[in-house]
Amino acid sequence: MCGIVGYVGKERCTDILVDALRKLEYRGYDSAGIAVFESDRIKTVKAKGKIDEGLAKKLPQVTFSATCGIGHTRWATHGEPSDVNSHPIGNGRVSIVHNGIIENYRELKAFLTSKGYGFESETDTETVAKLLDYYYEGNPIEAIEKALEDIEGAYALGIIFREHKNKIFAVRKDSPLIVGKGEKASYIASDVTAILEHTKDYYLLERGEIAILDESGVRFTDIHGEEIEKELQTATWDVTSAQKGGYEHFMLKEIHEQPEAVRNTVSPRVKAGLPDFGECGLTPEKIRGYKNIFIVGCGSAMHSGMVGQYLIEALARTPVIVDIASEFRYRDPLVSEGDLVVIISQSGETADTLEALKLSRKKGADTLAVVNVVGSSIAREANMVIYTNAGPEISVCSTKAYAVQVAFMYLFAFAVAFANGKIDEAECKRLTAGLLEVPEKIQACLNDVSQYQYVASHIFNADSLLYIGRGLDNALSMEGSLKLKEISYIHSEAYAAGELKHGTISLIDDGMPVIVAATQSALFEKTLSNVREVKSRGAKVAVICCKTADIDETIADYKVELPEAEDMFLPMLSVVAMQLIAYYTAVQRGCDVDKPRNLAKSVTVE
Ligand code: AGP
Ligand code: GLU
Repeated sequence: MCGIVGYVGKERCTDILVDALRKLEYRGYDSAGIAVFESDRIKTVKAKGKIDEGLAKKLPQVTFSATCGIGHTRWATHGEPSDVNSHPIGNGRVSIVHNGIIENYRELKAFLTSKGYGFESETDTETVAKLLDYYYEGNPIEAIEKALEDIEGAYALGIIFREHKNKIFAVRKDSPLIVGKGEKASYIASDVTAILEHTKDYYLLERGEIAILDESGVRFTDIHGEEIEKELQTATWDVTSAQKGGYEHFMLKEIHEQPEAVRNTVSPRVKAGLPDFGECGLTPEKIRGYKNIFIVGCGSAMHSGMVGQYLIEALARTPVIVDIASEFRYRDPLVSEGDLVVIISQSGETADTLEALKLSRKKGADTLAVVNVVGSSIAREANMVIYTNAGPEISVCSTKAYAVQVAFMYLFAFAVAFANGKIDEAECKRLTAGLLEVPEKIQACLNDVSQYQYVASHIFNADSLLYIGRGLDNALSMEGSLKLKEISYIHSEAYAAGELKHGTISLIDDGMPVIVAATQSALFEKTLSNVREVKSRGAKVAVICCKTADIDETIADYKVELPEAEDMFLPMLSVVAMQLIAYYTAVQRGCDVDKPRNLAKSVTVE
């Protein structure tokens, strides 16, 4: 998710744009740039890296008197961080800044190439700039209307046309954009953070609306150019709370971003209702050829691999070996040519994971990196790469990054099963459609957080607790336990529920909390027998399960209810409950939620 800004007014705009971009760098910092009306041309200055590393070093070489321009701080999704892939992007007649993903950019690029257009960047965004130019015949609104009819995907766009000096046009669909109204100036921004020092008054731009900003102010039309009236809002946030979207911590903000993040990971990889990883060359033919699949990562990334193992083996009957990168790389793993090693990493820089990738390649395996940071070391080293499009994850604790890794595992499992003929097209489409519905079910989990707060209020003084589950629930319990440990500093352990009686149950004493994941119908009764085992020995039990599950107070002290969903998808919802139980527990303990002690966001040392 990038940061977009725009300014038109009486003052010189360069510093105003750059200062506004600095406040949006939490949205992405791969590169930054501005495009301004200077004399009768559009002048662009942009550079790879954070503002202070790139753009700020280039600007002193230019002295713009411009009073209107757009700016962008990038979180790359298509095309690695570089000067040429930086925004603003344009061709002299039109310049744009974009937040979002153009899902049909390959088709648009082919069409525009057939019309004689060349492309300098690797971005999806450039297709929009060229499409606007293609349709522009003097009327910006008409060009915008025609271009948006061809575009599929998410976008927030700031647009300037050379022939319409000191005017900014803005449109959005699924990506955020607000229009600020100052006393003597007007603004666009990805969120109100960027303009709070200038004005607290802004308009919310809706899909199908066009904002037109010039020196006289702001006006709005519908997509056909018909004038519309809009209601002015007034911000109540300060800059810091605005960067967190009004949430108290980045972790909470990122938990609430999960519906959008999962949508951005899955929907661009679904074509005609089926999984499609053609973007990285992972074709059904290639998938069919793999003998074994390895999934390697650290921490939460490895936990997502555990989910992948359950799903792929259950659906595709292909052997899957999951391993911690720091173990994998030193045990001379039985990886060879004809195997696929899936390397999972949010940062794409984790040292052990990178070395595991290099070892896999040395052993002749095909490697697929599933990473969140475009152009990261792991992304560059792997044969194939899939970007999870979750946007920056600022909190040390992985939440949306894990969610999108798991979402990838589901889609990948469907693709492997279908490619190997273990499920037919109808079943693959049914499962894929089910996955596409998960974001709204995650949203339903987020709409009322009181049950997670209740559980947190009963465990935050615990010294130690257990997370137990079976099958997929066991994989999710690993992640739930890690969340609690890393941000609340309460010792916890995830344990296969059926394994308790082989020793660990001796830990249970009066009042010890046990959090039980029980989402899988086929294992529900078995899991309940484990609940009775621990409860009869004094444990305080919270069961996380579908709201329709037959659990009452005679069985559990508390039932955390999940929205109705197919068993297979419930773990993607139960992890949200676990994230929020951990979050509210850490808050109650007064912990530094976003920067837990002893931890770093990316472990680039071994
Ligand atoms: C989980 O909350 C932690 N952030 C940590 O376990 C993390 O998942 C692990 O360090 C791997 O990081 P990566 O995904 O960036 O490789
Ligand atoms: N897809 C655009 C790019 O890669 C914008 C990315 C974003 O919004 O994060 O440049």
